Amino acid sequence: KFSHLKYQLRVKIPHPGPIVAPLGSSISLPCSVSLSSVPATTSSAPIAPRVKWTVVSGGVETQILVARGQRVKVNEAYRDRAALLNYTSSPDDLSLWLGDLRSSDSAHYRCEVQQGLEDASDLVQLKVKGVVFHYRDALGRYAFSFSQAKRACEAIGARIATADQLLAAYYNGYEQCDAGWLADQTVRYPIQVPREGCYGDMDGQPGVRNYGTMNPDDLFDVYCYVEEVYGEVFHDSIPQHFSFDEAQSYCRAAGAELATTAQLYWAWSEGLDRCSPGWLSDGSVRYPIIVPRDRCGGPQAGVKTLYQFSNQTGFPEPTSLHDVYCFRGEFLAFQESVYTK
Ligand SMILES: *[C@@H]1O[C@H](CO)[C@@H](O)[C@H](O)[C@H]1NC(C)=O
Ligand SMILES: *[C@@H]1O[C@H](CO)[C@@H](O)[C@H](O)[C@H]1NC(C)=O
Repeated sequence: KFSHLKYQLRVKIPHPGPIVAPLGSSISLPCSVSLSSVPATTSSAPIAPRVKWTVVSGGVETQILVARGQRVKVNEAYRDRAALLNYTSSPDDLSLWLGDLRSSDSAHYRCEVQQGLEDASDLVQLKVKGVVFHYRDALGRYAFSFSQAKRACEAIGARIATADQLLAAYYNGYEQCDAGWLADQTVRYPIQVPREGCYGDMDGQPGVRNYGTMNPDDLFDVYCYVEEVYGEVFHDSIPQHFSFDEAQSYCRAAGAELATTAQLYWAWSEGLDRCSPGWLSDGSVRYPIIVPRDRCGGPQAGVKTLYQFSNQTGFPEPTSLHDVYCFRGEFLAFQESVYTK
């Protein structure tokens, strides 16, 4: 007899967005549902609403999970890292928990509820920030003790990466067959394509190889992490030819400094693509590639490093001629306080 009453389904994400979260962390995307009137017909009980979270990326919408009543079904691709935190105890709270965040999780998320013929949804943007990168001493492969490894990352404007951050980078396709220190004093490296010399503690399986906790005096490379840089990495569109000293003067004349290696990785993670190797403040020469091409370092995207020797060691001679990457800070005082944290 209340059939004239209409549902008024409202779904709301109480956040203006975008929601920003660091690589490897977890986050809760808030969402709530409300019904302004509940129909109570004598003949049928109200239908349990169907709750659905989807991710919208590149025009494609993929289901993360669906729930009806107490039953929650998580898409296999999100197993163990997506859940409705409070839904079973408070069915109005549809907040989605997402764990092990990786850069490919940067997308729009839709919280949707269907009940009978009614359908309502809301959308929020998530931005995952931060990039993990391999770093090697100018002197050669495996030259850092644990404390030197931490200092090396700090000296180039980064921090030593955590195991979670390296794992998140691995899930985004990061591959590097070089053992490196991590913040928990373990030594690991990420492998997508298992092969001779890169098996580590795993035979034919892809995955992050783990040597476990090592003696702090042992020598390895390091994995660094940079999350946010306040300023701009810039580069002339016409390739230049500078020695290291000339490159430094060029940036100073432009009211800037040579970019650090961390700043270049950060700029790459934000979309910088330049096929021209340039000097950085640590004396290394690198260039950022988003769209892989044969002439620009082969079939993989990434920041490419120009080594002195074919065994991928040594920074170029300071007198050799290359392009340059400069950096102009926005909020220098704040930036320093971030780096010394
Ligand atoms: C949802 O769950 C989280 C974690 O258990 C809790 O901190 C939060 O207060 C809950 N929110 C509501 C609305 O109950
Ligand atoms: C790499 O090559 C350089 C120069 O030939 C050599 O000095 C160095 O020992 C080599 N390093 C490794 C790890 O093979």
